[in-house]
Amino acid sequence: MKRRSIIAANWKMNGNLSLINEMIIGLNDMQLNENVTVVICPSFPYLAAFSQKATSENLQKGILLGSQNVNEQQSGAFTGEISTDMLKECDVQYVIVGHSERRSIYKETSTLVAQKIKKVLDAGLTPILCIGESESERENEQTNVVLSAQLQPVIDSIGIEKFVDVVIAYEPVWAIGTGKTASPEMAQETHHFIREFLAQNNAKIASKVPLLYGGSMNATNCETLFAQTDIDGGLIGGASLKVDEFKIICSTAKGY
Ligand code: PGA
Repeated sequence: MKRRSIIAANWKMNGNLSLINEMIIGLNDMQLNENVTVVICPSFPYLAAFSQKATSENLQKGILLGSQNVNEQQSGAFTGEISTDMLKECDVQYVIVGHSERRSIYKETSTLVAQKIKKVLDAGLTPILCIGESESERENEQTNVVLSAQLQPVIDSIGIEKFVDVVIAYEPVWAIGTGKTASPEMAQETHHFIREFLAQNNAKIASKVPLLYGGSMNATNCETLFAQTDIDGGLIGGASLKVDEFKIICSTAKGY
């Protein structure tokens, strides 16, 4: 099954205008394999700046813009929040939803995550749905239970057919920002479980969903991770803040 490969940069609350400039210039001379899409997700204030500065060369190559979060409502009195319409005006095409930092620090539940996914899809944007287990959940062999509980509310909210427009990022919480990457075998086994879980609802759709790995992915470990059958790209935090390292990851990705 041919699937797109996606490399998404999650800058979190890092970066500035000069990194935006550096990244755009850096990406200009990068060679991407066919069917690889690169998505840069800076903080909200830099979205418009990125889209104004990105060259047509960048865009043609498949270097697109993503947001790290969105509100599930259309508009209104929600101080500090941002809507899908606002993101679209800044040329955003992808939205990270349910990152583990949002789930743990900002108490986003799987129900809220499901509402956000629906809003993003209704707006014609592509959600990157993040799921993943904690260290103790992995140790207690609860990984599959946790992932199922994170996926099911989204399936209930949008229906399995809509997953054809969803990207899933599997990010074991214990691997995020810790330097501890899941082994390629462990990551593959979990990605396979996720695809099988979706396949129980619709095998054809499941085979099309890009599954990204996230958690301390870097220029050194990306190749063996990308070589796994069910790993279709990466959601990269720390290593996406270093232009040269991020470029290596992007050019290592193979579109299938
Ligand atoms: P990391 O972050 O690559 O720094 O581990 C990944 C993420 O949180 O998306």
